[in-house]
Amino acid sequence: MKFFIDTANLQQISEANDLGVLDGVTTNPSLMAKEGITGHDNVIKHYLAICNMVTGDVSAEVISTDFAGIVKEGEALAALHPQIVVKVPMIKEGVKALKYFTDKGIKTNCTLVFSAGQALLAAKAGATYVSPFIGRLDDVSTDGMRLIEDIRTIYDNYGYQTQILAASVRHAMHIIHCAQAGADVATCPLSAILDLLKHPLTDIGLAKFLADHAKGK
Ligand code: G3P
Repeated sequence: MKFFIDTANLQQISEANDLGVLDGVTTNPSLMAKEGITGHDNVIKHYLAICNMVTGDVSAEVISTDFAGIVKEGEALAALHPQIVVKVPMIKEGVKALKYFTDKGIKTNCTLVFSAGQALLAAKAGATYVSPFIGRLDDVSTDGMRLIEDIRTIYDNYGYQTQILAASVRHAMHIIHCAQAGADVATCPLSAILDLLKHPLTDIGLAKFLADHAKGK
């Protein structure tokens, strides 16, 4: 399973990248705003800065909601850097744009996916990635992980190549469950990735090894 980091924070991207396990980055307008990145030119500069820090795919989201606007924005984003993946919302005009980008060889990430039917449409349109938001489903008493399992089954039934990119991942167990369910990618906050490291027996064991080693000195 690939690990993407879900942030526009350059320091966190750098920390995840330094760990050596980072395969890509996802952003969205809210994550950009959280870092104080506003205005077209600043947003574009920020995408380029991210692309120059990592080697994998970097999702950049369109803000248009009509076909012509999504296409214009998406083509401009894709032209910025070969690592850019155009992130398109799961709406009617978005599905049409996904098909357009697929036919043009432009990589896409279909975002705001909350049902298996939406994921099926994204795959039919040839999306490179589909982003089911598991945390937000859990927030409304719906099993986000069940959606990952359902999409995995549907895609495997027909050999769809669209990669399942589990999004709205909130904690370490989400990551484990994504891997168990066969998600192709989990895009995570840095904290959730670092929480995978934690186990008290590791800490206790290491302290004992170091203490025993010191006895020999
Ligand atoms: O990847 C989508 C993500 O940014 C949304 O996460 O925590 O706002 O639901 P969250």
